[in-house]
Amino acid sequence: MLSAVYKQFERPDGMAGALAGAIMAHRRSNKARNAWTVALLDLKPSDRVLEIGYGPGLSLMDAARVASTGEVVGLDHSNVMLRQAARRNKHAIASGRVTLLLGELSALKSLKPGFDKAFSVNVAMFWRDRAQALRIIGDVLAPGGLLATTHQPRHAGSTAADADRFADAFSRALADAGFTHIRVERLLLKPVPAVCILSTRGE
Ligand SMILES: C[S@@+](CC[C@H](N)C(=O)[O-])C[C@H]1O[C@@H](n2cnc3c(N)ncnc32)[C@H](O)[C@@H]1O
Repeated sequence: MLSAVYKQFERPDGMAGALAGAIMAHRRSNKARNAWTVALLDLKPSDRVLEIGYGPGLSLMDAARVASTGEVVGLDHSNVMLRQAARRNKHAIASGRVTLLLGELSALKSLKPGFDKAFSVNVAMFWRDRAQALRIIGDVLAPGGLLATTHQPRHAGSTAADADRFADAFSRALADAGFTHIRVERLLLKPVPAVCILSTRGE
């Protein structure tokens, strides 16, 4: 049962997936960690920004508000999330500021590289091959581009130590993949704090 619920956050599908999307769009801690992550990116109007795993599309809206002359591209592998994010961002999509892609991480290989910023919120814990994921993301980032990876543990009984453990392991993977200037920010949320690991693609 628990794993069925978890699956709906890894790849929302059908009615249960639509409900998972609605929870993500309205839960206070979810909104807070998304807004915090976008703020940490320190976006500029001309930035090209990539979000991996946009879910219901909250952060895309925030990012598109600032990156007004740049572009915001989102990737998610869930059809249900594509529909929810498209509804939420319909004006920015119509004006060409937001583009939504449906697919796996490998779909990033078809994008024009040179993104200034890339980010994800509660997505990286699903990457089974972290080194490969970071290679694909690094390839679309501009040299010196910023990657922000936010994680708030949500499983039953999770603690602040789980968030710190994730930050430590992810920081090591980033260093192994050649990312530099790695630092961890924390946001005190209930029931468990969120961590954001910020890093720069090597030149
Ligand atoms: C827990 S949800 C978080 C959604 C959103 N970032 C938020 O915080 O509201 C994870 C999202 O990442 C997407 N996702 C997970 N693994 C993915 C992958 N390998 N490629 C593309 N999307 C993925 C899921 O479909 C889901 O929409």
